[in-house]
Amino acid sequence: MATVLITGANRGLGLEFCKQYAAEGWQVLACCRNPETADKLNEIPKVQVFQLDVSDFSQIDHLAAKLQDTPIDVLINNAGIYGGPHHGFGQLDYAAWTHTLIINTQAPVKMAEAFLQHLNRGNKKLLASISSQMGSIADNSSGGSILYRTSKAALNAAMKSIAIDLKEQKIGVVVLHPGWVKTDMGGPGALIEARESVKGMRQVIERFTPDQSGSFLKYDGCTLPW
Ligand SMILES: NC(=O)c1ccc[n+]([C@@H]2O[C@H](COP(=O)([O-])OP(=O)(O)OC[C@H]3O[C@@H](n4cnc5c(N)ncnc54)[C@H](OP(=O)(O)O)[C@@H]3O)[C@@H](O)[C@H]2O)c1
Repeated sequence: MATVLITGANRGLGLEFCKQYAAEGWQVLACCRNPETADKLNEIPKVQVFQLDVSDFSQIDHLAAKLQDTPIDVLINNAGIYGGPHHGFGQLDYAAWTHTLIINTQAPVKMAEAFLQHLNRGNKKLLASISSQMGSIADNSSGGSILYRTSKAALNAAMKSIAIDLKEQKIGVVVLHPGWVKTDMGGPGALIEARESVKGMRQVIERFTPDQSGSFLKYDGCTLPW
């Protein structure tokens, strides 16, 4: 049985990943900040729920130690935030920017460091991070959203490096754009449902080959520009 670990698993894309992987018979290690109030997550049969606030790196180390004997095939860095309302040049909230960078950029890297041995013991050996097309510098034609864009661009840069750093260990590293999805973050006006986005990303993960390590892929499998 394959094992997947997912952060930010209590709602949105993270919850949908848990539902779909559990339905496929995977062992699902679902991480969220408040397990006791994660009702939709707790009602999925056989999913194991763990408490994890990814901004607290000691919690990441603690969970990695707790799961030290558990091989992980796929680790999905999904937890993320938009960063609050003050995103535009001239009205930036620098404390919120730092917090956004911790959650969207540093935490996924810390997860990779903490869970490297678990991935090494897994069969699939894939580190997938949910980034965003808004992190693409080449694709930025509308400006704004400085907190979010920089945090995802930095995530992309970090994962590109880690893909190279982990090549010898045969651990694959990929960043995924889920599309514009109807979640709390994406809002009701978004283009696609979480079910479709996650189905696509699972397929990308399923079909992943080592030569794709260090790529930035959309949920439909297309390569995105950095
Ligand atoms: N929806 C879109 O259109 C879209 C587009 C591009 C990229 N993305 C990316 O996709 C990922 C998932 O987004 P979503 O749309 O599902 O967003 P969402 O509905 O707002 O859910 C965000 C998830 O992240 C968790 N989270 C936030 N801060 C956390 C922390 N410090 N520790 C642990 N978990 C934390 C939240 O947990 P709480 O409930 O505890 O807050 C929640 O489970 C994010 O990385 C996002 O940037 C989304």
